[in-house]
Amino acid sequence: MTAKIISERIAATEIAKSTYTPMFFRTADPEQATNLERLLESKPYIQVYDTILSQLQEVIKTDHPSKTLTDAEIEVRINERLAVRNAGDYGVWVYYPWNEKLVHLLDEQEFVYVRTNRNKYKITDQEEATLAQKRIGVIGLSVGQSVSLTMAMERTFGELRIADYDTLEITNLNRLRSGVFNMGLQKTVLVAREIAEIDPFLKVTCFHEGINDNNIENFLTGGGNLDVLIDECDSVDVKIKCRVAARKFGIPVLMEASDRCTVDIERFDIEPDRPILHGYVDHLDLAQMRDLKTMEKKLPYILPIVGIDTMSPRLKASAVEIGQTINTWPQLASAVTMGGGIMADICRKVLLRQLSVSGRYFIDIDELITDGQAKDVEFQAEPEPITLADIKTLSEKMPVSVPVSTVTDAAATRKLMDAAVLAPSAGNNQPWKWYNDGKRLLLFDDPARSFAFANYDNMITHLSMGSAIENVDIAASAAGLALDVDLFPLKSLGNLNPVAAIAVRHESGRVADPLFGYLKSRHTNRKPGDGSSLSGSILDELREEAMKAGVSSVKFLTEKDDIARIADIAGKSDKLRMFIPEGHMDLFRKEMRWGNDPAKIKDGLDIKTLDLKPKDQVGFRVIRDGRAMQLLADWDAGAVLENMTKDLMATASAVCLISGHNFSPESCINAGRAMQRAWLVTEKHGLAVQPVMAPIFHFARMVHGNGGGMSEQIVAKFAAMHHSFIELFNLSLTAEEPLFMFRIFRSEEPAVKSIRLDVDDVYYSN
Ligand SMILES: Cc1cc2nc3c(=O)[nH]c(=O)nc-3n(C[C@H](O)[C@H](O)[C@H](O)COP(=O)(O)O)c2cc1C
Repeated sequence: MTAKIISERIAATEIAKSTYTPMFFRTADPEQATNLERLLESKPYIQVYDTILSQLQEVIKTDHPSKTLTDAEIEVRINERLAVRNAGDYGVWVYYPWNEKLVHLLDEQEFVYVRTNRNKYKITDQEEATLAQKRIGVIGLSVGQSVSLTMAMERTFGELRIADYDTLEITNLNRLRSGVFNMGLQKTVLVAREIAEIDPFLKVTCFHEGINDNNIENFLTGGGNLDVLIDECDSVDVKIKCRVAARKFGIPVLMEASDRCTVDIERFDIEPDRPILHGYVDHLDLAQMRDLKTMEKKLPYILPIVGIDTMSPRLKASAVEIGQTINTWPQLASAVTMGGGIMADICRKVLLRQLSVSGRYFIDIDELITDGQAKDVEFQAEPEPITLADIKTLSEKMPVSVPVSTVTDAAATRKLMDAAVLAPSAGNNQPWKWYNDGKRLLLFDDPARSFAFANYDNMITHLSMGSAIENVDIAASAAGLALDVDLFPLKSLGNLNPVAAIAVRHESGRVADPLFGYLKSRHTNRKPGDGSSLSGSILDELREEAMKAGVSSVKFLTEKDDIARIADIAGKSDKLRMFIPEGHMDLFRKEMRWGNDPAKIKDGLDIKTLDLKPKDQVGFRVIRDGRAMQLLADWDAGAVLENMTKDLMATASAVCLISGHNFSPESCINAGRAMQRAWLVTEKHGLAVQPVMAPIFHFARMVHGNGGGMSEQIVAKFAAMHHSFIELFNLSLTAEEPLFMFRIFRSEEPAVKSIRLDVDDVYYSN
């Protein structure tokens, strides 16, 4: 085989690439007979197929459905039909130049009569005649190919206009029915050929350049208005423009997205004022569409169209992998084939005026046909909130040894409470309930608020409570008061509630804690930092203040390499957290507030406080679906979910770890106090802070709770990271229990800060 002969053949084959209309020869006409003869002589390789006699038999049988005719009777009737003509000149010879086939067929009327015979009554003759007058446009020929071919088989149109600028590639072959030799062929040509091979009498008009501003009107109206437009294209721009134009001309638009077989019907023919895409994009400036270059800018337009919140869990999980382990959205032949069928069905009913609804519909097989075994994860029942009656009952059990306040005036106490509620708490859950029993302030944990998977052994609650106690102490100092704090006064009765009994007294000479001035402005910042370094004196001050709360150590990572290593651990931990069903539920169903009414958001994390980039906001909406997360966990995928935390953490000037002497509740309270002091010091120096706690919580569950509630794989992953973590901070585990970690950085202020419950929501007096 020489290269020359191959290239000659390639050149000859190229010519065939653009042809898609068959040629007809009716040899009863002598001129056409001569033309056919010439063709056959010039191309001796043309393959000839002639089944005209059996086609004629089908005509006869179709004519006589009530009789079983003998072969002889059929032959008589065929001869009557042929009259004087010989069978070779009956009907029409159809030549397909792209595959060099010549086929002998019944002519149009008989061909259609027999070919659609098995449609009958599903589609009546009258309906068939109506449909034969209809013009349908299809933009985008992946799902569009399936729709077009199904409609051609069913014969639900007289003219089909198809538009796509793309060519067939090997990656299309998982869902586009076509032969391998068609690679490189325009999809329009491919579809037109396949239709011609099914039924050469159907009219197909190709728009090989796809749809653009210049040809859209021609596509919709040239040669008569379309009766239905089917949009199966990828471009948001074209989707919007073709609808605007279709509405102008009163043409209904149909669309099928193969995921969950999502069907959109927009009846602009009977609802001329209907907003395009059911109003999903009404809030957007459609005129700007053309200039949107980046994905970030396009997303607000794309999301309502694809219905980000209603996608199947598998597609959501796959979306997380786009650009990581896959190039684009996955799509299966089964779904595309089904979409073709559904669209053809709906389109026929629209054309026959048998359907007039508009809207978005799902024909979700996963929901319709299940074996009923896939159960939702069963979460532990959430505890009841603590009531005032519970609080009173517990406070009556207070032993006499517990200190009693000598300062009891309401105004002074109220000031202390004003400071208490400013404390930070994990997920802004504000687990505290304060009670003034007339003798002292009692601090209670409300388990309905603090209950969370991450809250192993109530460690998170105790950290938050520690910060609240520290705030009260600092506020007291500013009023010349001092506190006697008795932690867990009912511990001997086996009760960790109340968390603290606090007696308030005067202390002459007590000076205001210099950190008092920063209580109000302290906040969490989740923006990136500038990575600039911090002076040793600031870090020393921070350590000194934190150590005052009786913790074991306060350590910093400041080297870039070390920060990168801890960033990696933090990113992986945040991802794994979401792979644990309870962890996922804590974050998305309990902590997050999706920002409907800011006035009502007094707890939890308003999505706006996360300062997410538009792309991450989308990611958040995707990973909000626990089923999608479980799929990613099963696939051991979702690496991109590590990036948000990892990238932010990597911009830190320093990462600080506060360790207690042990894992006791008291030690956690002290670490909470230390954390609050350190945080206030950063505030004093205009530095930003974000706690990064997923590694700490899960290490605690692993070390002290034997990894209970986490899968073996997840425990193994945390165990590997724990090892590096210990090494990184050079911890001696017998003396240093890691309890609170945060990144310190320089950045602008966050766009939105979290809000608090009112003092009256959390403070009661007897
Ligand atoms: C114990 C504890 C753990 C926290 N863990 C995280 C964390 O892992 N990631 C994060 O972004 N914020 C974390 N935070 C910050 C809280 O979400 C934040 O303090 C709370 O929403 C109140 O907001 P504020 O700090 O701006 O007042 C944590 C806070 C506390 C007290």
